[in-house]
Order: sequence, then C-alpha cells, then structure tokens
Amino acid sequence: MATFILGIESSCDDTSAAVLRDTSLLANVMASQEVHRQYGGVIPELASRAHQQNILPVVSEALRLAGVTMADMDAIAFTRGPGLLGSLLVGTSFAKGLSLSSGKPLIEVNHLQGHILSHFVQDPASPHPVPEFPFLCLLVSGGHTQIVRVDDPLHFAILGHTIDDAVGEAFDKCAKLMGLGYPGGPVVDRLAKEGDPNRFRFAKPNVPGLDYSFSGIKTSLLYFLRDQLKEDPGFLEKNKADLCASFQKDLIDILLKKLILAVKQTGIRQVAIAGGVSANSGLRNRIEEEGARRGWTTFLPALRFTTDNAAMIAITGHYKFLAGLFAPLDIAPLSRAAEYGDRPADENF
Ligand code: KG4
Ligand code: ZN
Repeated sequence: MATFILGIESSCDDTSAAVLRDTSLLANVMASQEVHRQYGGVIPELASRAHQQNILPVVSEALRLAGVTMADMDAIAFTRGPGLLGSLLVGTSFAKGLSLSSGKPLIEVNHLQGHILSHFVQDPASPHPVPEFPFLCLLVSGGHTQIVRVDDPLHFAILGHTIDDAVGEAFDKCAKLMGLGYPGGPVVDRLAKEGDPNRFRFAKPNVPGLDYSFSGIKTSLLYFLRDQLKEDPGFLEKNKADLCASFQKDLIDILLKKLILAVKQTGIRQVAIAGGVSANSGLRNRIEEEGARRGWTTFLPALRFTTDNAAMIAITGHYKFLAGLFAPLDIAPLSRAAEYGDRPADENF
C-alpha cells in the first residue's frame, strides 16, 4: 500500500507544504516572504507573522493540488529545527493542531536531514537516479556547512563542519558589502558569470581535518574593499563582476579542498551536494568537473529542491514513517543544531 505524507516547512522565511505518495512528489507549494528584502536580512518577528498568514492557505493548496484530503494522509511531517524559533513554533503548532483534528500521527524532521534526503524525492513524470549508500553529502546552506557521510536515510555521521560562519553567510555578506541586496547568493552567482575568477585573491583558511572556516575570507574581502575604495571611490562599481567571480571561486576552492580530502579518507565516491548554496552554478559545474576527473558519481539536486522546501521534509517523514518513528503531541521545536547533539554525535544529527 502506498504511503501518503504531508510535509510542512517553516524554519526560516519560506512557508512550504508538500504531499508525497511514497517517494513521488504530488505537490510542493511555497510562499516566500518578500517583506525581508527591504531590511537586507530575515527579521524573525516578521517571519513568524508571515508564516501565520501563509500556513493555512499553503497547506490547503498542497492538498488540493495533490488531489487528496487529510483523510488520505498517513502522517504529518514538520520541521522541528534547526531554524528561527518563532518560525519553527508556527509550523510545529500548526502540525500539532492538524494532528489532533485529523487523528494522523506526527513526525518531527531535522531540517538538515531534509536537505540531504531531498535527493530521494522523485518527480513521477521524470524519475532520476539517486545516490547509493553510503554516500558523502556536502551540505551548504545559509546556516550550515558540513560534510556528512550518509549510511542510510536515518543514519548519518558529520565528518566535518564549519567552526564559524556558513558558506551561505559568506555569499550573503559579500553581496551586502557590495550593496547587491538580500539574499546575496543568487546575485553573486549571476554577476560571477560575467567576471574573471582569477583577478583577485582573498585569504584562505587554514583549518585542520575536514572542518571549514569562512569568517577570515569575509574579513579579507571587507578590508580589501575598504583599502581599494580609499584610493578609487569607483572601484566597486567598475569591478563588481570580477569581485564576485573571484570571491565565489575562492569559496568553491575551500569547499572542494575538504570534500576531496573526505573522499580520499573514506574511499566513498558517491558525492552529493545539498542546501541553498547547492543552487550555485559555479559550485555545480565544479563538482561535476572534479567528479568526472576523479571518478566520482555526483548528484546535484534539482534547483527547486536546493533552497528550503517541504518536499524534503515530507521525504524524511516518509523514511521515518517506515521506521515507525513518530513524535508525541507535546514535542517542542529545537532552534539550534547543537540541541540535536550535532557533534561529536554520530547519528541523527
Ligand atoms: O538552505 P537555505 O535555503 O536556507 C537555510 O537552511 O539556511 O539556504 C539559503 C542560503 C542563502 O545564504 C543564500 O544566499 C544561498 O543559500 N543561496 C546561494 C544561491 N542560491 C541561494 N548561494 C550561492 N549561489 C546561489 N545561486
Ligand atoms: Zn535550509
């Protein structure tokens, strides 16, 4: 018998609901919050309010598009964390209310596990190959940067992580320093396509093992721009594309250096990327090139599954449902990844 899961995501500034029939996506509805753009970053209080406005219409629309009702669902999967607490509370409370009223069980989902498992969501019209276990996943988002060994859908080991900022923050900071707006990653990506990636070089981190650091390169860009602008106030305007291309190339070099090391250390050659920054065209091209050169099998998520979405929450819910992992009605959100024991714990983030 097929399994139907409703997924709900509200960890940051996107309200999303999705319906899966086994691993096939029947609907994935998203309401993005434009309200934050004018402030150059997500304002948590405004995000919670927008989730409250969006969540009922988004869930109703997902069920309608999927051609199902709550009575057809086997479980309700929701993002428990990590994320903004106020935003998580809206999704968690909504999921609990829906569980009470429909009698369907709750499944709590770790947002980061969701990003990784997004590779297993299938479009019934065009199925795609999925990674075999174990595989390595470079998880690159606005809040996290990790190299994860995925042993099966429910068992993971974090082999390396950032000791300070996430790579998405570095993209966003670069855009902010250059006055390019928020979120910065997609704008930097677009401008980088027109620039020379070898024109400028920024400070590279020197962190042992498989860990990352992105705070130094951010500061390096800040000081570089400050010094150049003193000499030529038009420097930024004239060099925008080259600056973006060079900064992006350095970030990708940092990411790849540790990923290559992780493949060498583990001997695992199935390599996936996930998270918002996995939408970056430079990173996608580079992973494919390195993969082809080094004999890896690479997996790039479809662009619509790179940034936050409920399909990834529903697919995680699917695997947890099969394992009988349900959540009690008094469950509370966890805003920080560390509350899941993300290090040095080996399992379940
Ligand atoms: O996974 P995500 O949607 O949210 C978190 O869980 O954090 O990731 C958002 C991050 C932002 O930092 C955004 O700038 C970045 O992903 N991003 C990109 C691109 N698209 C989104 N960074 C680089 N290039 C892109 N094309
Ligand atoms: Zn995310």
